[in-house]
Amino acid sequence: MWVQIFTKNGTIKKILEPLHVNKAKYSSNIDVDQFFKFYGEKADSDGDFKPLEEEDYNRFISSRSAMREPAITRQITSLAYKVGKRMISLAEGMPNEEVFPFKRLSLEMKGGGGMLFEGKQLGAALQYVPSQGLPSLLTELRQFQEDLHRPPPIPRDIMVMNGGQHGIYQCAELFLEPGDPLITTEYAYGGLHSTLRPYNPEILGIPEDEDGLIPETLESVLQDRLSRGLKMPKMMYVIPTGSNPSGAVIPEERRRKIYKLACKYDFIIVEDDPYMFLNYDERRVASFLSLDACGRVVRLDSLSKVVSAGLRAGWVSAPAPLLQRLELHAQAELLHSCTLSQAILLKLLSDRRALATHLQSAREFYRARRDALQRALEPLQGLAAWSSPQAGLFLWMRLRGVSDVYNMVFHTAFERGLMLVPGHAFQYDSTAPSPYLRLTFSKVKLEDMPIAASHLAQLIREEQQAQHKRVTGTQ
Ligand SMILES: Cc1ncc(COP(=O)(O)O)c(C=O)c1O
Repeated sequence: MWVQIFTKNGTIKKILEPLHVNKAKYSSNIDVDQFFKFYGEKADSDGDFKPLEEEDYNRFISSRSAMREPAITRQITSLAYKVGKRMISLAEGMPNEEVFPFKRLSLEMKGGGGMLFEGKQLGAALQYVPSQGLPSLLTELRQFQEDLHRPPPIPRDIMVMNGGQHGIYQCAELFLEPGDPLITTEYAYGGLHSTLRPYNPEILGIPEDEDGLIPETLESVLQDRLSRGLKMPKMMYVIPTGSNPSGAVIPEERRRKIYKLACKYDFIIVEDDPYMFLNYDERRVASFLSLDACGRVVRLDSLSKVVSAGLRAGWVSAPAPLLQRLELHAQAELLHSCTLSQAILLKLLSDRRALATHLQSAREFYRARRDALQRALEPLQGLAAWSSPQAGLFLWMRLRGVSDVYNMVFHTAFERGLMLVPGHAFQYDSTAPSPYLRLTFSKVKLEDMPIAASHLAQLIREEQQAQHKRVTGTQ
């Protein structure tokens, strides 16, 4: 995909032939409905638990979030989009598009077709929008989520976000008081930890097996807290598909059990799902959103891993009372996500077949890399243990005979030209020793994989010997 921006004074001369907007040339036999199906066949709920009422959400909202009030100017911007040209407005703080120096923006797609923004459409794509998002994109996203997840009918809405990380940050502000307990996996995405530090939370890190977070362990932790009269968690953070770093996919039955625990022990599930389209065994597992009969799921979507990380294209779906608060955060924080990115996202989403074709090829691309890395790692059998990543971009490996990888990663490996992420990056206490490494297969060149594996095998052997000497005191 390439971009050309044409300035009004014509400094960039090369003019493109007009592109057919959204007329992608894909011819594929993908079953688009099946491709985008992230809901199960079973009934949503056995009726054991009642949906939350509007006032119930008050007990989840942090005191900091509760203090936010609507910005009048932002409300006027939303109003301006609703009334259109019917009124004379001396109200809005918007700049006049005529002063913007851009004339045309075109994006040509690798798979054929493209997008062209010019005239009023380009002006609109460069203008302020309501904090919730570009209204036409919101309409598209509502339909998209409905089609993909078929969420049970409770009042819910969507807000555009700057990627999933933004959503995590927003959820922490929405739910957490300093020192609050929070449920997550024993090893969790480092961006969660960075967000949480100022809250000094009590992390309830639940172990994972090959199918991800273990509900039985979660229940015993919760039951134990309850019986000891300890503060109960209000929020759980989970990556259901291709967990970072473990690569696990939580199966539907397990998701149902976890969802029931959320109802029984009264917490909200924050479902962060940026690897949903990178599920290598092509199972379409029901999302937590699709199970959410009681209004307990805040879902974070992001196209960073499959479309573009730099566009910062993401959105949050949440029960209406929570979404209203998230919008107030956005009013104060960034006014709204980048309009141009939103306009691009809108065009991408509005051609589902082209999108499915692209996503399928992204999945094939990464699957081939995952398999190549696993083949390259064959010589490490016996030196380390790992299970095949079911989804996502990472292989999570435990070294044998090495209690801590820190020195190896930041000294020996680095000096030999090999960069790795130590397990420390995924534990809340990053000073505790870790025998884990996370290997990313998304960008490393295929021909470099065997070289990296052979360096790694050598490094592990040396580290095993060094640690053995330290323990036995031999020289
Ligand atoms: C689980 C998870 N969530 C969120 C992010 C942040 O992604 P973005 O903010 O680009 O959507 C990442 C990035 O690696 C991730 O792995």
